[in-house]
Amino acid sequence: MAIDTRFLSKLGIKKFNPGTITGLKSFESESFQPSISPVDGHLIASVSTTSEKEYRKVISTAEKAFLTWRMVPAPKRGEIVRQYGEALRRFKDPLGRLVSYEMGKSLQEGFGEVQEMIDICDFAVGLSRQLYGLTMHSERAHHRMYEQYHPLGIVGVISAFNFPVAVWSWNAMIALICGDVVVWKPSEKTPLCGVACMNIFQDILIENELPEGIVSLINGDYRVGEMMTHDPKVALVSATGSTRMGKIVGAAVASRFGKTLLELGGNNAIIITPEADLKVVLTGAVFGAVGTAGQRCTSTRRLIIHESIYDKVTKALAKAYTQIEIGNPLDAKNHMGPLIDIQAVEQYKKSLKAIENEGGTMLVQGGVLKGRKYASGCYVLPCIAEVQNNFEIVQTETFAPILYVMPYKSLSEAIKMQNDVPQGLSSAIMTNNMREAEQFLSAAGSDCGIANVNIGTSGAEIGGAFGGEKETGGGRESGSDAWKVYMRRQTSTLNWGKDLPLAQGITFNV
Ligand code: UN1
Repeated sequence: MAIDTRFLSKLGIKKFNPGTITGLKSFESESFQPSISPVDGHLIASVSTTSEKEYRKVISTAEKAFLTWRMVPAPKRGEIVRQYGEALRRFKDPLGRLVSYEMGKSLQEGFGEVQEMIDICDFAVGLSRQLYGLTMHSERAHHRMYEQYHPLGIVGVISAFNFPVAVWSWNAMIALICGDVVVWKPSEKTPLCGVACMNIFQDILIENELPEGIVSLINGDYRVGEMMTHDPKVALVSATGSTRMGKIVGAAVASRFGKTLLELGGNNAIIITPEADLKVVLTGAVFGAVGTAGQRCTSTRRLIIHESIYDKVTKALAKAYTQIEIGNPLDAKNHMGPLIDIQAVEQYKKSLKAIENEGGTMLVQGGVLKGRKYASGCYVLPCIAEVQNNFEIVQTETFAPILYVMPYKSLSEAIKMQNDVPQGLSSAIMTNNMREAEQFLSAAGSDCGIANVNIGTSGAEIGGAFGGEKETGGGRESGSDAWKVYMRRQTSTLNWGKDLPLAQGITFNV
């Protein structure tokens, strides 16, 4: 398949030019990392990886930039983020295409990701005038007591391949208006997305005569991530990825009393009750399971279906699966592109074996697609398997379009099944019955960070706090009051009287 890659030069990426940026300057690097498209298996470019020496330079530049940035009034910081949002509107087409080509998600989803970046910029601009703290009444006369929020310093962002631009923006745009500076390590599978975002931001910093180092990029595998997690100069590490990675990052950062924001694996279920609307169920479940080829942390992994409608729903789903077009994601007629790489395909194949070994039944067969259209070797079939919730494979997150189905008798039992996994990111119920919906949303309902009614598990809006419980890591990013994670809270009490009365009525005369 011949892919038109002219969008690369629009983003400042010269094909096969390995000398790309680290931080805001070009570094002479000795090692390079290939970026290979899962769409056609081609090498798009090689990107220089960050050495320890370069890392230290990035951090000291960021530290210096922080001294300036923290004193820029928050609404003025918002103005810089506003300009970035404007630039993203102009670059939406090439950046969306790059996301689709480097990561493999459908073009619509690629554009959707850039839209999410634009939306978080708008949100952050408004928020830059609303970093509110509380005021309290002091128990002492002539005293004023209040809290204020100050920036933390350097915020490190480690992002995953599946949302190669949006997740960084959720973190970075909020951190920036809070007065932090941001060092980003994108996934080693999607470094060019990082380079493109940085190229666009770099121009804005130059136009506004702001110091380099307010945003920067480091590049490489987990060893580069480790430089940040072990570095006391990085006040907060926001990491998105697997639970395995999160455990390592969480422990390393906690051992130096740093802060973390962890956004890890999900095992998201939709409960489908007899009072559900079948049309809503099909759209929610199929998009949830097949969208992004099942590689969202919010992807729908499990359907818990009432026994009275089990056959009807699974048949309708199997029929819907026959309509899914798989192929080059840059071709808008395709719903589903490839998995990220060959290792992901191997993992998918292993999971299919495990389902069989544990006694699951395939309702819609999986498999790896062959032929010229699928020459990268990364295209697979979405499949549906009938399983039991306690199968080891069902308890594990596989980043692939594998959907598990299982029947239930009572809603309490369904909720118990939905919660009975180690992860706690997203969940949903499909019902038009108010009592069922409220039970699901109650304290005895879903234990996840996200609980939806008549909406699938994926596709969260930026305005809410995003994240989940249990092995999902407990972090919240993006909307609502998630900004507080990027700041330190200070309680200040000011005495404007002539005496110094002590709190708790203590007298201490000298
Ligand atoms: C992720 O998969 O890491 O809710 C994030 C969603 C997207 C974000 C997913 N807005 O599906």
